[in-house]
Amino acid sequence: MRSPTKSKQPRVAIQRLYRGLHGYYDLSGDEEDRILRARSSSMYGEIMPAATEALLDHLNLGPKDVLYDLGSGLGKFVIQAAMSRPLKKCVGIELASSRARIAREMLHEVRRAGLLETKDVHLEEGDFMRHDLSDATAIYTCSTAFPATLVDRMVFRLSSLKKGLLLASVRDLDDNPYFEQVDELRLDMSWKRRSRVYIYRLIRSRRI
Ligand SMILES: C[S@@+](CC[C@H](N)C(=O)[O-])C[C@H]1O[C@@H](n2cnc3c(N)ncnc32)[C@H](O)[C@@H]1O
Repeated sequence: MRSPTKSKQPRVAIQRLYRGLHGYYDLSGDEEDRILRARSSSMYGEIMPAATEALLDHLNLGPKDVLYDLGSGLGKFVIQAAMSRPLKKCVGIELASSRARIAREMLHEVRRAGLLETKDVHLEEGDFMRHDLSDATAIYTCSTAFPATLVDRMVFRLSSLKKGLLLASVRDLDDNPYFEQVDELRLDMSWKRRSRVYIYRLIRSRRI
């Protein structure tokens, strides 16, 4: 059993909770096959806890917001967000079952320790291209390693969500009629310091 620190600072608590745990291990053949069938990539990498804090401050989300992490890995971003502020809901979706399982175990620990500001938190195993995202008001995706074709399909899918949706993507989007870039941040990722993170707003929704 892990003991998340009672620190008031979620980023300190996250570091303590995940100490010695990382996502840079080989996935099983079945997990790799599943990700290939989804025409995606299993490559791992993480946003650093101080960068998560900066991104959350920038997005300035509140109790009416529903935040998703598409490709949530071990769940650090979702758990830190849920520990930091009271959102309406916070969801991570991860296709690799072993990563999703670790994420759910960590969520169980922070919930048990009473450290969640957001109560409605889910870390689910699945393909974000098939998951219902209709209530999303903000999305983060560490999309650097996703194939360009997946990013294009993802943009098209997200363009049917609610107008005003905020999208923070580690990969920049090709020009499209739906999303307008509103900011560019420099945030530390596990593979590169001061990596670019692009913030978009959905200005033209396909939703009828
Ligand atoms: C670079 S990691 C990001 C981890 C986490 N979001 C972070 O930033 O700390 C990307 C994750 O997306 C997952 N992934 C790739 N395609 C996916 C899909 N279609 N649905 C759900 N997860 C996916 C990979 O297995 C990987 O764990």
